[in-house]
Amino acid sequence: MVKVKSKWVCQNCGYESAGYLGKCPECGNWGSFTEEIEQSASKPQNFGVLGVVNDVKPELIKDIHIGKEVRFSTNISEFDRILGGGLVQGSIVLIAGDPGIGKSTILLQTGGELAKKGQKILYVSAEESLGQVKLRANRLGVDSDNLYIYPQTNLEAIREQIEQLSPDTVIVDSIQAIYSGNITSTAGSVSQIRECCNILMNIAKAKNITIIIIGHVTKDGNIAGPKVLEHMVDTVIYFEGDKYKSFRILRSMKNRFGNTSEVGIFEMGANGLVEIKNPNELFLNERSFENIPGSAIVVTNEGTRPLLVEIQALVGTTPYPSPRRVCNGVDFSRLLQILAVLEKRVGLNLSKQDVYVNVMGGIEIDEPSADLGIAMAIATCARDVVVDPQTVIIGEIGLSGEIHPVSSIDKRLNEAASSGFKKAIIPYANKDVINDRIKIVPVKRIIDAISACISMGVNSK
Ligand SMILES: Nc1ncnc2c1ncn2[C@@H]1O[C@H](COP(=O)(O)OP(=O)(O)OP(=O)(O)O)[C@@H](O)[C@H]1O
Ligand SMILES: [Mg+2]
Ligand SMILES: [Zn+2]
Repeated sequence: MVKVKSKWVCQNCGYESAGYLGKCPECGNWGSFTEEIEQSASKPQNFGVLGVVNDVKPELIKDIHIGKEVRFSTNISEFDRILGGGLVQGSIVLIAGDPGIGKSTILLQTGGELAKKGQKILYVSAEESLGQVKLRANRLGVDSDNLYIYPQTNLEAIREQIEQLSPDTVIVDSIQAIYSGNITSTAGSVSQIRECCNILMNIAKAKNITIIIIGHVTKDGNIAGPKVLEHMVDTVIYFEGDKYKSFRILRSMKNRFGNTSEVGIFEMGANGLVEIKNPNELFLNERSFENIPGSAIVVTNEGTRPLLVEIQALVGTTPYPSPRRVCNGVDFSRLLQILAVLEKRVGLNLSKQDVYVNVMGGIEIDEPSADLGIAMAIATCARDVVVDPQTVIIGEIGLSGEIHPVSSIDKRLNEAASSGFKKAIIPYANKDVINDRIKIVPVKRIIDAISACISMGVNSK
């Protein structure tokens, strides 16, 4: 007889306990425990796809022969880039993002492109009906003889179809909506997600099928379900962007087959996602007024590509007892650190000033080379002077106000010069870089950067 035992599982991180807990000892979340039924071990677990485990013996590394890693292009070059040059056959990729950001759209487009190249694609639609998917496919112009849409939530049925159809690539939309009959807890629970991902992973490895799964994210931006999901899959890609703007950014967070911190940039339109090959033009086009204090251009290096991004700051006397610090696209504690350095090393008194900092274009900057640009946007706004609109600012700020060197300075300068900038403020330690298309101004301290970047007279060019 199958014994039924229950356990309490944190739906945030997957921590298990015998009884209810108000606060999770692992991730610190409150009220995230729900009861799940645990199947006792007497039930046979039929994940035989990897073969009988006891048959496996250690092998000498020099005796292991593998075929060449097979990679195929998705025909969407921005997507290929963040995958490290295309999808790897037999790998499992997780794409996570906010509701409505465009996860189903990009994967239906990808499925369509792969099918056009002759691959057999199984698109498991666990959230939408055939009609809904067809409507989207019509809008995107996806129409192929090799693309199967399968509205199904039961994993065993999905597995059966994979056996019958032998597709090259399977798309699962989404992991939170499918469930395995081996486990009694509801779809979307930690145990279900873990089990389903495990089975899908075994199918991918055993049958050498590429599986792409969609994952939803929680309010605070983590993939809903256990953290182990990210550990299990080969590649984790986040889909970001401002839902009310048309930019979308794909960012790879983990990749067993390539570089991480690559980004791909898209624009969402009626016909689906269109890749943007030259994002710098687009981001800078958003610049409306060049002669307003508090705007600075930084050159961040996202993956292998430098991005020119505008930082805007607003500094004003606060009506509140304690001043406000608000930022968008910049890490909050990073902002506080920059403000502290500006107060202490530049003598800017911000204790009665509200400070707002915005990264334009819905971009998130997590690279310290933007520090100096952020500081210049704030400092010029506070002093009511204008940063020269043809200058880019590059540098990481240290606590004593010194400027630290940055990586790939040559690539950043080339990108800035190509976009028409005439002058670059760079860290002194990077001064040996050679570039005759742009005037280089090396600075040692944050205070030197201020005088170097301000425009002489409001309309000077
Ligand atoms: N006719 C249209 N024209 C332009 N954009 C559209 C149109 N229809 C939908 N969209 C865009 O597509 C987005 C929805 O895309 P999609 O369904 O792929 O998102 P998703 O991430 O799969 O969402 P969910 O989490 O609900 O599954 C909408 O937010 C909207 O931006
Ligand atoms: Mg969807
Ligand atoms: Zn937890």
